[in-house]
Amino acid sequence: MTESTNIVWHESEVTKENRQELKGHKSAILWFTGLSGSGKSTVSVALETELHAKGIHTYRLDGDNVRHGLNKNLGFSPNDRTENIRRIGEVSKLMVDAGLFTLTAFISPYQEDRDQVREIVKSNEFIEIYVKASLETCEERDPKGLYKKARLGEIKGFTGIDAPYEEPVNPEIIIDTNQLNIVESVKVIVSYLKENNYI
Ligand code: PPS
Repeated sequence: MTESTNIVWHESEVTKENRQELKGHKSAILWFTGLSGSGKSTVSVALETELHAKGIHTYRLDGDNVRHGLNKNLGFSPNDRTENIRRIGEVSKLMVDAGLFTLTAFISPYQEDRDQVREIVKSNEFIEIYVKASLETCEERDPKGLYKKARLGEIKGFTGIDAPYEEPVNPEIIIDTNQLNIVESVKVIVSYLKENNYI
């Protein structure tokens, strides 16, 4: 890939703060990470519904969806996963600038990649949510039948089977979906957002 040269940042007159003021709330990335089948998509969908009902402006980016379009040229090698997360991080940053709570649901298996996203926004604009479920549980759920295929060797480099998942070192929120149902999970996140004056 060649990098662009001779490019200059052009400021808008309307700022992120102006947009937030108009919307009546802050904006931030709610970064869901966890194994396939841990519940990232389910919890983030339910959370978005709840926030939307409260009049909060949101947008949700989901692994499977984004890989149909923006990231359709990326696979699941370590480098492609890193590039996947880098692009999502940059898109999420733009969405935060636009004044939205941006909910992302990607496995994002590498701590370094998640930390990179944290670094490109302000410290209070990245909320890492570890959707925790044991591999056994995820494999039992196997909603897409992918663990079965991975065990049969039909999918190579599947996270948790023959590709790594690095647990978040210091996430803002842990949602243990072995213990909590969807309603309880959403409640934990909404409470965090209220207690920390996001909403
Ligand atoms: S990553 O690691 O963050 O780049 O992955 P992500 O973009 O979130 O995509 C994960 C979804 O892709 C499907 N899938 C795989 N997951 C893991 N490993 C391999 N090899 C793989 N191949 C396909 C799977 O449906 C994941 O969806 P979720 O929602 O996580 O179950």
